[in-house]
Order: sequence, then structure tokens, then C-alpha cells
Amino acid sequence: MSTDKPGQQINPLRDPDDRRLPRVPEPCALVIFGATGDLSRRKLIPAIYDLANRGLLPPGFVTIGFARDRGNFVDIAKQAAQEGARTTWREEVWERLAEGVHFVAGTFEDDAAFDELAATLTRLNESHGIAGNAAFYLAIPPVTFPLVLKQMERTKMADNEAAGGWRRVVVEKPFGTDLPSSQALNTLVDDVFTPNDVFRIDHYLGKETVQNLLALRFANTFFEPVWNGLYVDSVQITMAEDVGIGTRAGFYDKTGAARDVLQNHLLQLLALTAMEEPVSFDAESIRTEKLKVLRAIALPENPATHAVRGQYQQGWCAGERVLGYHDEQGVAKDSTTETYAAVQLNVETRRWAGVPFYLRTGKRLPRRVTEIAVLFREAPHLPFSNTDTEQLGQNQLVIRVQPDEGITLKFGSKVPGSQMEVRDVAMDFLYGESFTEKSPEAYERLVLDVLLGDSTLFPHAEEVAASWRVIDPLQEFWSQVPPALYRAGEWGPAAADGMLAQDGRTWRRP
Ligand code: BG6
Repeated sequence: MSTDKPGQQINPLRDPDDRRLPRVPEPCALVIFGATGDLSRRKLIPAIYDLANRGLLPPGFVTIGFARDRGNFVDIAKQAAQEGARTTWREEVWERLAEGVHFVAGTFEDDAAFDELAATLTRLNESHGIAGNAAFYLAIPPVTFPLVLKQMERTKMADNEAAGGWRRVVVEKPFGTDLPSSQALNTLVDDVFTPNDVFRIDHYLGKETVQNLLALRFANTFFEPVWNGLYVDSVQITMAEDVGIGTRAGFYDKTGAARDVLQNHLLQLLALTAMEEPVSFDAESIRTEKLKVLRAIALPENPATHAVRGQYQQGWCAGERVLGYHDEQGVAKDSTTETYAAVQLNVETRRWAGVPFYLRTGKRLPRRVTEIAVLFREAPHLPFSNTDTEQLGQNQLVIRVQPDEGITLKFGSKVPGSQMEVRDVAMDFLYGESFTEKSPEAYERLVLDVLLGDSTLFPHAEEVAASWRVIDPLQEFWSQVPPALYRAGEWGPAAADGMLAQDGRTWRRP
């Protein structure tokens, strides 16, 4: 089936239990708080348009924007959809979607605005047949969550029974800033919504390649037998970005790389790489296995030698001269916030005992790339001369999350000729070459799952808590040491290379 299919047809002949057909949610509304903000414009509105264009939204689907400035929300949304859409632009799809676009202007303190929002949802039951079904997307700074949740409680907007349909809430990461604050946030959200109706977004879980990791491991025979410490030497998980912090200083300077992405995206990738096979592919079974891994993670005894944080200085990145972190707009000259973090984690299970998991992330690194590299041990015996194997490296399985989504297998091969010279070669699987269908954007998949009520790709509160238990002691240690500096456009501070060198290893050059 093409991803580009227009319209919102529901085929009355389709069998709703046929899992090969994409499911379409029941009629419902999506309320976006922070509707004119960056996340909404860059990700959410384009995702809604793409879903409509693929025929995956129900008839009468409603989008309600809630924000301070009125502007002309329909125009803002149209421009955002046109700029960010992945699928072909079709005016007729937009027009049908725009019929269901509403806007409520107000601040989060404004009772009247929330009353109006509640009344709008009630009115839409009649006019659009949404039957009380609504999801609320908090695309707003975490400090404002309590205000909005209180308003929803006051107006009974979060109450499934009062609404006569389902009510769900979507919360963006990071969830809190440490374990106590994330637990307080969870209590607050769970007081207002039923826990099963809370969807915590980690958009990395919506990426096709990340889901493919499970297919790769559990649908095939030959990876799983070597997926353990007997054969695996180490695992490197890299999430590198060439961009700086852009206009996000207000958020980023208070957050830093560890809280922004290590606590969530990278630990989720680690959990999926290391987990055991789930008994089935439902939310509960996958969560159970991920949680076991997250709880088995141990920091090295001495973080001073196995954890490095860094901050970028001015330099050249992606062909441009760029500012250092201290010179970015909105960043204090003496800020010690890290823009780079690297750490060695151990997973204390029988499968992974003794296998270091090296995680690193940073801004203003040479290029944008996210990958999981599984590096294998050397063959126990090489029946070749040393000179024949000089160019032989470690066997590697590299899952490229982005860009150039795919998988590379690196192994030794004989160089043609009369010598028995063995050198590394690569075998590549590229999504773009093997499938004609383009991968949906992560937000497309996740917004659809929220509307369908499928929480498989959303981290549970317990996973979030287990992740903070890993990150909090690291933050505690890092708060005592200034970040090491690195020049923009380099692969992080020298200390990160030193961290691997002491174990006789080097970082992969992705
Ligand atoms: C977000 C972080 O979660 O992920 C950003 O807050 C980061 O700092 C972004 O830039 C990267 O996402 P992606 O999908 O472009 O890798």
C-alpha cells in the first residue's frame, strides 16, 4: 500500500481484526497545548497532515489549538503542514482537515479559556460525532504542566466518565529533572488522568529503525545466539548532532545533554538492544523486558574514569563557522551545562556481564548520526600470519537509526590475489533500496498510536524512574566537575577518547 494514498476512506468491507491493514482511530479530537510553538509547528501539525493524507484519520477528526496568541491558527497550521509534510501536498486533504481545525486563545491561568475549551469539546460531540473522545498533547514547557493539569481537573476534561468517551494525555520528555521531580510529576498526572491514559513520548521509539531492532533480533535466527558476552566485546550507542542549541537556550541551559537525551533516547536504545525476548509484542510484555534491563544497569565504580561531559567551543561545523556554547544567545558566560556526554554502563545480567555499553551524545559534532554498533570479540585463533591480518578489525553489526537508515555488517574477507591477506569489508542493507514505501516520521506513528490507545511504543512511568536512577548519581558526580571543552566540529573532548583508550578500545567513526 502506498504511503501517499489520499483521503480518509474507511472501507466498510475491511475486517477490523486484520492486522495487515492499518487501523483508523474512532472519531476524536486532538487538543494541542502550545499549538503555535516549535514542536507543534515542526512535528505535530505536519504529522497530522501526513496521517490525513494516508487515510489514517477518522472522518470528522478535529484538531484544537490552544495558545496565548490567536494569530490566524488555520493559516499558521497550513503553513506548518506545507513546510513539514513528508507526503505530497494535496489541497483537498488539507481543506477537509481544516474544516475540523479550531482554536482557543488563552493563558494557562485563564479559567474562562479552559471553560471555552471544555464547551468546544462538548459542542463537537454533536457537530463532528467525536463521542467525547479527546487526546490532550502538552507541547509546552514542563513547568507549566501543573497549571494545565489543574485546569483540566477543574473542568472535568480529563474525566472519561463525564466526557462519555476516552480522554488521554500526551507528555513530552524529559519527565522531570531527576527521580523525585519525575515521581512528583507522575503523581500529578496520575491524579488527573487514569494511568493507562497517560502517554509519555520518547520519539526515538517511533523511529522505524528502532522498531526494526526488535525484528532483527527476534525474527531471525543467526543474530540471537551471538548476542551475549560470549561473543560481544562491547556495544557503542552514538547519537551525534551537528546542530547547536539553536533558539532553545532557555530549555537547554537548564537541562544539558544527559537529561535531554541520555536519560531517555539513549537508555531506551540500550534497553531494546539488551533486552530478552518478550513473551509477546504487546505493551506490557515489552515494557517488562525493557524494565529488567534498565534496572540491571550499573554505573562503573569510578565515574571519574568512565564518564565524560563536555561543552563545545567555537569552531567549524558542517562547513560553517559556528559560535561556542557560551556565545549562544541566552547562555550565561559561565554556564557549566554539558552539550556532550559519554558514559560506560554495565548491564548486570548473565547475558551481558563484562560487556561495556558505551553511550555518547553531543551537539556540534561533525555530523548528524545515530547508530547502535555491536562489536564482536576477535576470533579465538587466527590461522594466518600477523601481516596477513594487519587490516582486519573487529566484526561489527551496525544499526543505523538515522540518516541512511539501515544495517551494516562488517567482517573480514580475503583480498583478491595470491596472498592470504584478510581485510574488513561491509555488507549493507539500506531501507531506501529494499522497500519502496517510505518510513513514516516518528511523530506520525506516535500520534496515531495515541489516538488508537496503543501504548506499546511509550515508556512507562517505571521505566522513566529506572532511567533517572541511572542518571541521578551521574549528574551528582558531574555537578562537581566542570565540562571538558571540545571544538565545534570535533568528535567530543579528548577525555572521551581517553575513556575508551584505557580499556584498549576506540570510538567508531560513524
Ligand atoms: C530531542 C532533543 O528529544 O531530540 C533535542 O530534545 C534533539 O535536543 C532531538 O535535537 C533530536 O531528534 P532527532 O529525531 O532529530 O534525532
